[in-house]
Amino acid sequence: MTNERLQEILARHAGSEGPLLPILHDVQRAFGCVSPDTQQAIAQALNLSRAEVHGVVSFYHDFTEETDPRPCVQLCRAEACQARGVEALVEAAEAAAGNRVRIAPVYCLGLCSVGPAARIGDALHARLDAASLARLVEAA
Ligand code: FES
Repeated sequence: MTNERLQEILARHAGSEGPLLPILHDVQRAFGCVSPDTQQAIAQALNLSRAEVHGVVSFYHDFTEETDPRPCVQLCRAEACQARGVEALVEAAEAAAGNRVRIAPVYCLGLCSVGPAARIGDALHARLDAASLARLVEAA
C-alpha cells in the first residue's frame, strides 16, 4: 500500500518539469516523512543519485527523514521577521512547547510586513508577540 501511494505520487508528476520538490512535498504530506528508502525510490524514478535527493531533503526544513507525531509550529526566522523581533520570542515559544510540540524554523511565509509570523498546518498567524505565540503553541 505504501509503495502504491508512492507510485501514485511519482506517476502524478511523470513528465513534469522540475518534479523533485513537488514529489517531496507530496511524499512528506502523505507519509509524514521522506524516509531513506523513499529517497532511493524517488532517485531511481527521476534518474538522480540518492545523494542528490538526500541533499534536497536535508536542505529544506519542510522535509524530515523520520515521522514526528508531535504538532509542529513553524516559526519564521527570516530577515524581516528577525527585524520585527522574532528572536526575542523563541525562548518563550520553546518553553511553551516543551517536548509536546515541535518548533521548526521556516524562512519566509510571505507575511514579512506583519511579522513575526508562524504557520501551524495550513493556518498562518501574524503580528505575534510572546504571549500570542505561547497561546498558539499551547493550543497546537
Ligand atoms: Fe517572516 Fe517573510 S520574513 S514572513
